This record gives sequence, C-alpha cells and structure tokens, in this order.
Amino acid sequence: MYDVVIIGGGPGGYAAALYAHNFGLSVALVEKDRVGGTCLLRGCIPAKAWLQTAGVYAAVRRAAEFGVITEPPQLDWGAALRRKNDVVDGLVRGLSGLLKARNVDIIDGYGRFSSGRNVEVVDDAGIRTLEASNVIIATGSVPRSIPGYAFDGHRIVSSDEALDWTERPQRVAIIGGGVIGCEFASLLGETGSEVHIFEMLDQLLPGTEPDAVKVLSRHFRKLGVNATTGVAVGPPQVHAGGVVVPAGDTTIDVDVVLVAVGRAPVTADLGLEQTAVQLDRGYVVADLTTMLTAQPNVYAVGDVVAGTPQLAHAGFAEGIAAVTHIATGEPAPVDYRAIPLVVYTHPEVASVGLTETQAREQGFDVEVTEHGMRGVGRAIIQGETGGMVKLVAERGGRVLGATVAGPAAGEMIHELMYVVAWEAMPAEAATLIHAHPTLSETIGETLLGAAGRPLH
Ligand code: NAI
Repeated sequence: MYDVVIIGGGPGGYAAALYAHNFGLSVALVEKDRVGGTCLLRGCIPAKAWLQTAGVYAAVRRAAEFGVITEPPQLDWGAALRRKNDVVDGLVRGLSGLLKARNVDIIDGYGRFSSGRNVEVVDDAGIRTLEASNVIIATGSVPRSIPGYAFDGHRIVSSDEALDWTERPQRVAIIGGGVIGCEFASLLGETGSEVHIFEMLDQLLPGTEPDAVKVLSRHFRKLGVNATTGVAVGPPQVHAGGVVVPAGDTTIDVDVVLVAVGRAPVTADLGLEQTAVQLDRGYVVADLTTMLTAQPNVYAVGDVVAGTPQLAHAGFAEGIAAVTHIATGEPAPVDYRAIPLVVYTHPEVASVGLTETQAREQGFDVEVTEHGMRGVGRAIIQGETGGMVKLVAERGGRVLGATVAGPAAGEMIHELMYVVAWEAMPAEAATLIHAHPTLSETIGETLLGAAGRPLH
C-alpha cells in the first residue's frame, strides 16, 4: 500500500512525487513514457532549446553591427536537433535520478483506476494493481486540432512532431496565433522559413496587452512573418508537394501546416467511471484549495485540471498543494493571481496578474502607466529598443497586473510578480533602486511614472 500513487510523470506528477519526501510519504509514479511529461519531452524545454538556436543564429547575423566580423552563419538543423535532444535527455536523466534518490518507485506502464482507490498498471507483462491511500491524477494534455486538420504527422502536424523536424521546412502555415503558434513563428521566421500564421481572434496572443503584442508584431514584420488575424481557415487540400490552405479570400501553398489551437485534457480510458471524479468538457473538476476531486482521496493536478492555466509551473504548484493537503490535511492553495506567463518569442512577452481589460471588467477604477525601452541605456547597448513595460494599478492603490515585452521579459516579470502578489503600491515599490544600466530600470521608471513622479 502506497501513501500516494501518481498517474503521470509530467511537471504536476513529478513535482508531487518529489515534494512528498518532505513528509516521508511512500510514492509510486506511474508513467507510460519517460518521466518529464509534455514540458520536458514535447513542450517547454525542447521548444526553448530550438528558440535558443534561433536566437544565436539571429545574433550572429547581426554581429557586424556590434563590430564583430564573421562569415555569414549557416544553420545546421541536424546539429540543432541533436543539441535539443541532448538537452532533453540530460534533464530526463537528472529527473529520473532525483526521483530515485527520493525513493519514488517509478512504475513503467499505463495507469488507470480499477476502483475508487486502486490503480492498475498495464504493461507488456500484464496487469498489476497498486493499492493507494491517495491517488493523484496528473495525466496532462495533448494537442487538439480543428475539423479537416487531422494530424498525419507529415503535412499536418502538432507541436509534438514539429519539435522533431529533421530539416527546416521551407514554407509553413501555422493555425492559431496563441503561445505555441507565436513561439514557432518566431523560431521559423528567424531561421529563414516562409511563415504564415492565422489567428481566428483579432490579435495574436489573444488576451495579452495589445501594446505588448505590437512589439512582437513589429518584429514579425521585420522577419517577413505573415500574420493574419480575425480569419478562419477552410479545409486544407493535401497534395503530393504540400498543402493548400484557404484563408479568408486567399489560398496559400505550404510544405506543412502546424496546428496550434490549444491542448485537450487526457481523461479518456482512465477508468474514471470507477470513481466519483467529475469532468467538465473532459477536464477534471478539482477543489482549487486542496486539488481534491469529488472522489475522496483522489486529487488532480496540472493541465488536466478544469479552469487553471496549462503551464508547467502551475502544475508544479498544484502538485505541491495536493501533497501538502495529503500530508497535513490543511489546504495550501496555489496563488493563481500571480502566476507569470512567459511567451518565449524574440522579443519575449511576459505578464502577471490582470490586464487593463480584465481589471476594468472586474470593476476596478484603473490607472495605466507605460514606459518604452527606446531610451533605456542597456536596451540601446543590446540593440533591442522595441520593448516596453505596462503597469495596471487601482487608481491611488495597489498594482493589479503588469506586462513586459522585450529582451529578457521572461526574467524581468518576476520582479513584478512580487509587486502584484504582495499588493505593492507603486509609490512604495518606486522607492527601491534598480541597478544601472539594466533592462529592469524600465520597471523602475514605470513605477515612478505610476507613482506620479516620472524621472526620464
Ligand atoms: P493557446 O490557447 O495559447 O492558443 C490557441 C490559439 O488558437 C488561440 O489564440 C485561438 O484563438 C486560436 N484558434 C483556435 N481555433 C482556431 C482556428 N480554427 N483558426 C485560427 N485560430 C484558432 O494554445 P496553444 O498555443 O496551442 O498552447 C496550448 C497551451 O500550452 C496553452 O495553454 C499555453 O499557455 C501552453 N503553452 C505555454 C507555453 C509557455 O508558457 N511559454 C508555451 C507553449 C504552450
């Protein structure tokens, strides 16, 4: 009998497994693949490894601007793919080692409920049953598609296959201008592919501050990425040499279509009918103060949970929350108000807390302050002055949300995470001094502006 059996070894599941050692709980982690989940095997890590290659390539192409003379760089796609795989393999090995060091039993096979409490594991050798005091469902998500665009692994693909392309596609259509669509547009545009990105809603990265999206859109235009918003694509025609995609009143012919329209939860064939677990459009309904489902002692964490962000770091936090509740009986809820979202495009777009629109929708009387990076010394030194910081505060009150677009936005946003989570007043936060010259000074300037005492 295990204290905890976890189904799924992605960020939600493995964080729960690792954290359980703090309480001396016995843990089995059931995984049908290698440990690491979408994040490590088919998501965050490999995508950012590719974006790193694209960033280095772009930097070398600009080298002469900084007085460094090089040959025109060439992209060795195969070497970049090997490096991506090495990065992933190294992290998987490290994670497996850490889980073993924490005495987590990693059980290879497919896990599903055989009763409200027990999990059966199916592998080549047959079926065995694990008895558990508590079960955590951490089965994650898979790419979803749209009608007519069934994944064939070759001409119509998801990010799963795109991360393993063995050569750079010449012409790509990306359906969906959300996080995955924009990250791939950035990396493919930067490495020389012809890219067409189609977003159904009226801006790329829907829900993001429009001024931050403008920073990204400007860069896309420079790269020659064709972004079309407010458009629905029609059914594709796959032919011997590629795919024809009808979009609005035009059609384009490309080598491959990448569909990035969101991810669906993995809850089919989990034996959930043996339990009282409730689903909402396929997602597991959990009490977000404890991560408990409607089945006593059964928890859910990560992408599979209804109504929480599909982000690896949200999964980590939910894994920790579930294990804390198992061990202590006390709720230790995740603070969803201040979870940063980073889009790792070049330039990056990062946000935390409420956007201006969300704050107004929630009835706040808001005050908005923006500061661009055009005059910021460090941005000029780096040759990347297109960025900006936007702060949304309650009039005369605390900071409710912030967005940063530009180089290192994904690092800078964490300063604003504390500002939002700790409900700082702009005037109070503005008394703290940023090092010079840094990109983060842009945040200092924005806070001074929000406090009514702008400096530059
Ligand atoms: P998403 O929800 O971010 O974006 C999907 C986009 O597709 C939306 O903008 C939607 O309006 C659009 N769309 C839907 N149907 C369409 C259609 N028929 N035609 C054109 N556009 C259409 O989902 P995405 O990018 O697939 O990512 C999945 C999840 O993974 C998200 O929750 C995302 O936050 C997460 N993720 C996070 C990353 C990060 O934190 N850096 C990186 C990659 C993914």
